[in-house]
Amino acid sequence: MTAVLIAEDLQRRYEARRGLFAKPATVHALAGVSFTVEAGRTLAVVGESGCGKSTLARVLTMIEEPSGGRLLIDGKDVADADAATRLALRRAVQIVFQNPYGSLNPRQTVGKALIEPLLVNGEGDEPGREQRAREMLRRVGLRDEHFGRYPHQFSGGQRQRIAIARALMLQPRVLVLDEPVSALDVSIRAQVLNLLVELQQALGVAYVFISHDLGVVRHVADDVMVMYLGRAVEHGSRDAVFADPQHPYTQALLSATPTVDASARRQRTILKGELPSPLNPPSGCAFHTRCPIAEPRCREQKPELAKVVHQDVSCLVRQSPLP
Ligand SMILES: Nc1ncnc2c1ncn2[C@@H]1O[C@H](COP(=O)(O)OP(=O)(O)OP(=O)(O)O)[C@@H](O)[C@H]1O
Ligand SMILES: [Mg+2]
Repeated sequence: MTAVLIAEDLQRRYEARRGLFAKPATVHALAGVSFTVEAGRTLAVVGESGCGKSTLARVLTMIEEPSGGRLLIDGKDVADADAATRLALRRAVQIVFQNPYGSLNPRQTVGKALIEPLLVNGEGDEPGREQRAREMLRRVGLRDEHFGRYPHQFSGGQRQRIAIARALMLQPRVLVLDEPVSALDVSIRAQVLNLLVELQQALGVAYVFISHDLGVVRHVADDVMVMYLGRAVEHGSRDAVFADPQHPYTQALLSATPTVDASARRQRTILKGELPSPLNPPSGCAFHTRCPIAEPRCREQKPELAKVVHQDVSCLVRQSPLP
């Protein structure tokens, strides 16, 4: 197995202004996450709004610099890379956004949109570029006659197919998909998810699949990382996380997703309270304010990820239940 993406304690902070005269506060949008993605495999990243998923996407695709930790793409440390290597690494990790309206230029035909990345990177000659664009169009389930059409002439699902095709034109090693089906009708979600699975099998591309929806994730993930306020709270194989979730946050997310809650026996966990502000996260375990099993020690002690059953879990109570 080759690791195409390695994150080691990857961090990203922002300075958030809180009014004209107040001192800027620091948001730890990504407070240190670590994982490995193998070629042709899918890591799903799950969590509520604001937990740092898109921040992670921007750091992985080198749109933003990490504020700490290490990122290795194809075995190369991004921080050490010279200009030429950085360019190559940028090409190796491409992104698909939630909203294909926003990511496609309305004045550009689909053909031009697919050819553009090749043109910008000086790949091939004109007939060669067009041929590759037409092939990719077919690969994502569109037809030759779509080549000269404009984005507004397509449905949402077709537009997302085009965005996926464009991201694949430079044969990336990794595709970061940030909520790729969240804006689509439920009826076409499955089609786009199936397409992603087919493309992965055919091309061997790895996915970082970002979603707030565990029901969607179950169809595509090999591994799952559940995030809360910028940190991973549970990380393991899909089968382990779905069959026997250990962190109370994962359990709550799963029990709120009736389609995947396989055991009717599992107690429904309802989270109390609101998601705390990332500007001022709770002390100790950041989840303790909403946790149904929190103990006094959770207020003071920050948990680390450690193996519980088959997966890594960041929870003091699960790691060492009090006698
Ligand atoms: N440029 C920025 N400046 C200041 N704060 C930011 C910036 N970008 C993100 N944040 C903050 O970082 C945190 C994580 O944001 P992020 O967009 O990564 O979350 P998310 O998990 O993608 O949420 P959603 O599910 O709503 O897309 C949030 O608290 C957000 O307000
Ligand atoms: Mg987001």
